[in-house]
Amino acid sequence: MGEVDPAFVQEQEHRPKLSIIEAKGIPEIDLSPILNHDVQNQSAIDALVKEIGSASKEWGFFQVTNHGVPLSLRQRLEEASRLFFAQSLEEKKKVARDEINPTGYYDTEHTKNVRDWKEVFDFLSQDPTFVPLNSDEGDDQVIQWSNPSPPYPPQFRAIIEEYLEEMEKLAYKLLELIALSLGLEAKRFEEFFKLQTSFIRFNHYPPCPSPHLALGVGRHKDAGALTILAQDEVGGLEVKRKSDQEWVLVKPTPDAYIINVGDIIQVWSNDAYESVEHRVVVNSQKERFSIPFFFFPAHDTEVKPLEELINEENPSKYRPYNWGKFLVNRKSSNFQKKKAENVQIYHYKIA
Ligand code: OGA
Ligand code: NI
Repeated sequence: MGEVDPAFVQEQEHRPKLSIIEAKGIPEIDLSPILNHDVQNQSAIDALVKEIGSASKEWGFFQVTNHGVPLSLRQRLEEASRLFFAQSLEEKKKVARDEINPTGYYDTEHTKNVRDWKEVFDFLSQDPTFVPLNSDEGDDQVIQWSNPSPPYPPQFRAIIEEYLEEMEKLAYKLLELIALSLGLEAKRFEEFFKLQTSFIRFNHYPPCPSPHLALGVGRHKDAGALTILAQDEVGGLEVKRKSDQEWVLVKPTPDAYIINVGDIIQVWSNDAYESVEHRVVVNSQKERFSIPFFFFPAHDTEVKPLEELINEENPSKYRPYNWGKFLVNRKSSNFQKKKAENVQIYHYKIA
């Protein structure tokens, strides 16, 4: 097979080393202390909160087990995703994303202006989802995004909706643990998610003839509050380890979820926790599937360091920004290749 189209080719410095480092990986955290609400074991919960706190601080990434999401539901969802992507391009394009609704199928996403070796299907957790019309500061018009109804596989939409309920439950639990680990009230973040803009993404990474040149997803940080990722057994997700800046593979653990702290938690925590860079390496032999759930607040959320976490010695490190404006700015820049760099939280950093 030949080489890939130049649109996919990463700059030399961002190309993956295919000899993968499998040194000490991300922490694995057992959520069973909060799974069973009848028997509250306070010391086990305290220990869990500590673990979540240090994983968020040292790594920005961790895996969770005993999370309460039924395995059979995840398997049904994964099977539906395989069936969806196995269709012809013509069939998939019947539920293609367009300029107005950034939901459904597309295969031309760019991360930092280089095309990703993947195809995706996006589905909102709220239908409709309210967002600003555009990213202009002065314009307060709000529009609605809505979901596609993929005709195949037949139960796809119903299975996604059932799974989304589980993702939200888990996301709220994790957010409570994160709040506690920062010394805040458990429900401190809940109000921001009443009219959330969260969505779930189905990723399909086909085998790639030039895995040394292209990436499934280029290096990036997730912009939201939290990401909950289900990956299959193939592997390819790499995280930039904070201790030495090396790219390390996140080894697949069956039935576990990979959690990462996003940019919003970094800002809320005033940099106590950090959103960490990650990417996806592809391979020439196997296709890979993954399903991230991106937990995003309501569009009118003003993102800024929490008052409880700043003081004279530790002043706010960020200017406030509007989440909805940030989101629509990002969505328009990953629909098309753009000349300029897209919006990033460090643009709001106070020098
Ligand atoms: C993403 C992402 C990782 C993966 O979609 O933001 O980082 O393993 N995906 O697919
Ligand atoms: Ni990501």
